[in-house]
Amino acid sequence: MKLKGKTAIITGGGTGIGKATARLFAREGANVVITGRTEETLLETADEISGAGAEISCRVSDVSSESDCIKTVESTLGKYGRIDILFNNAGVCYKSNTHETDTDMWDETFDVNVKGVYLMSKHTVPHMIRQGDGSIVNNSSILGLKASPAGFAAYSASKGAVNQLTRSMALEYADKGIRVNAVCPGTIYTPMMDELFEEWGNRDLGEKRYISVHPIGRLAQPEEIAYAVLYLCDDRIKFITGTMLSVDGGMSAK
Ligand SMILES: NC(=O)c1ccc[n+]([C@@H]2O[C@H](COP(=O)([O-])OP(=O)(O)OC[C@H]3O[C@@H](n4cnc5c(N)ncnc54)[C@H](OP(=O)(O)O)[C@@H]3O)[C@@H](O)[C@H]2O)c1
Repeated sequence: MKLKGKTAIITGGGTGIGKATARLFAREGANVVITGRTEETLLETADEISGAGAEISCRVSDVSSESDCIKTVESTLGKYGRIDILFNNAGVCYKSNTHETDTDMWDETFDVNVKGVYLMSKHTVPHMIRQGDGSIVNNSSILGLKASPAGFAAYSASKGAVNQLTRSMALEYADKGIRVNAVCPGTIYTPMMDELFEEWGNRDLGEKRYISVHPIGRLAQPEEIAYAVLYLCDDRIKFITGTMLSVDGGMSAK
């Protein structure tokens, strides 16, 4: 059990990559707190995972709200006394060319994908500094490293910002025992992608288009990202900080 005795907060933990990571972390012995805006999916996930005997709590919380983030951090500390891991995973993705992106869509993308990472980190870091130890992993994207011609400018810009925030925070807290890394997934089968596949008018066609840009010739399941997040949180490789770990079937090598 790599995470025995540790406490992890996973934002957006009710679905997709967050859910797979919550399941893996619980199996590895962590107390896991999952957050999101939809109580139903959080409760379903908590129910499913706690069935395996792990300690899991859920909290309805919007990462773009500072008061929600403060309450999430305080309630986690109240319950478990410490926060060892913060997985800033919550995110939204809209497909739209820049001139057709309405301002609300742009603002939501940055409020959730960037401000959410900042707010959760801002309120968690003081406790990690006190502990002298902690690991923050941000869920970025391959589109934070490379541009896409397919109408993801706002999303790509937000994930580029996440990468720079990750590098900057890694340097700010390197001497405090806090490691800050990002995982940069290619295309993963999650509810977020279900919607994007459908935008091609036909799910199979959409899926094939995404597969075609991954040299490995397939997309990935959320568990593959969960294992990458676990790797970044592993105490045996504490020399890793400020890294953008691509898990993308070879996309970034092109
Ligand atoms: N799937 C991919 O191919 C892929 C590739 C690269 C990166 N990623 C990144 O992976 C992360 C997880 O996405 P996913 O693919 O697993 O899709 P997903 O299943 O749609 O997960 C997104 C999660 O974020 C939560 N969320 C959204 N807005 C929120 C907010 N304001 N406050 C709190 N939680 C919020 C959602 O829950 P609620 O709606 O209930 O709040 C949901 O649980 C995202 O950051 C995404 O950008 C995904």
